[in-house]
Amino acid sequence: MKAVCVHEWCDPQGLVIEEVERPEPVGSEVLIRVHVAALNFPDILLIAGKYQLKPPFPFTPGLEVAGTIEKVGAQVTEFEPGQRVLAQTALGGFAEYTVAPAIAVQSLPDSMSDDEAAAFPLVYQTSYFGLVHRCRLQRGETILVHSAAGGVGLAAVQIARALGAGKIIGTAGSDEKLDLIRENGADIAINYRTEDFVETVKRATDGRGADVIYDPVGGETGERSTKCIAFEGRLLLIGFTGGRFSNFVSNHILIKNYSVVGLHWGAYRQHNPAKITEAWRELWQLYEAGHLKPVIGGRYPMDEVADAMDFLASRKAVGKIVLHW
Ligand SMILES: NC(=O)c1ccc[n+]([C@@H]2O[C@H](COP(=O)([O-])OP(=O)(O)OC[C@H]3O[C@@H](n4cnc5c(N)ncnc54)[C@H](OP(=O)(O)O)[C@@H]3O)[C@@H](O)[C@H]2O)c1
Repeated sequence: MKAVCVHEWCDPQGLVIEEVERPEPVGSEVLIRVHVAALNFPDILLIAGKYQLKPPFPFTPGLEVAGTIEKVGAQVTEFEPGQRVLAQTALGGFAEYTVAPAIAVQSLPDSMSDDEAAAFPLVYQTSYFGLVHRCRLQRGETILVHSAAGGVGLAAVQIARALGAGKIIGTAGSDEKLDLIRENGADIAINYRTEDFVETVKRATDGRGADVIYDPVGGETGERSTKCIAFEGRLLLIGFTGGRFSNFVSNHILIKNYSVVGLHWGAYRQHNPAKITEAWRELWQLYEAGHLKPVIGGRYPMDEVADAMDFLASRKAVGKIVLHW
């Protein structure tokens, strides 16, 4: 089978597609014939050796796929060959076939396309965990979402709207992204390059600030967010696309009574997988009710995976980029 391979830390143009041996599912694993895989910002960090996970070489990146079950391991009873599924793969998604533990696989409703299915798991699971489990977002609360036109950001906006958030404010780095943010449920969309998000959030909340701030950017964005967070607000750390961590001032956190909350979604696989299953039940309900709709911002053939990654890194992409075999 063909697979995208990494032999040394590289930028996207260093990726190669090679013939490798097809994996076999064992025990509680399933083998999936991959139709579509989705790209995530962590893929770019991972191949460059800048992610917390550093797999041994050679490895195949790819965190989420949609396809059909090809074969099941001896202990699998809930899936059978031919079934349409999505799956979260710790690695290995950018291949013609991939194995995943059955617990990381979901069967698909007929209404969901392969593109939507591949684009669904990571960003909606992450944003749901962040908003519901870690930040306890309440109905009527104001939320500020940074990078709101990106993968995790758009998912956060849609989930916040579905959960009855009050005011939803999104930021992005270009005017082209602002309409999309509003179309997906935000009341206010800010181009942070031309407008001061701190002032706009304060104005929109009569000086109170946002109850929840969702931050995939880090650095100065996280630091400045503490200037417009509400009393008992929660500042959720999702990632560091900006390239550096934020430095928070501990006495400011104390004096203003807010919390800085971390989320590493992948850690729940090890520490509390039941919570992931619970989140799936809620996410499917929200999807079936029409509240969640993955936005596909680009489709590439798998042999153009490097260009797809460069496009995501260029900051021009919106929503999710998908890769087709
Ligand atoms: N904590 C978790 O469990 C978890 C799970 C999944 C993803 N993540 C993290 O969430 C973050 C976003 O991931 P994603 O896949 O949804 O990516 P994305 O938001 O779709 O794409 C990246 C966006 O980040 C913004 N950005 C700001 N500074 C940037 C810079 N210096 N270089 C490139 N982009 C920059 C850009 O939007 P603007 O130009 O509009 O600002 C860009 O479009 C990543 O850090 C990822 O590692 C965390």
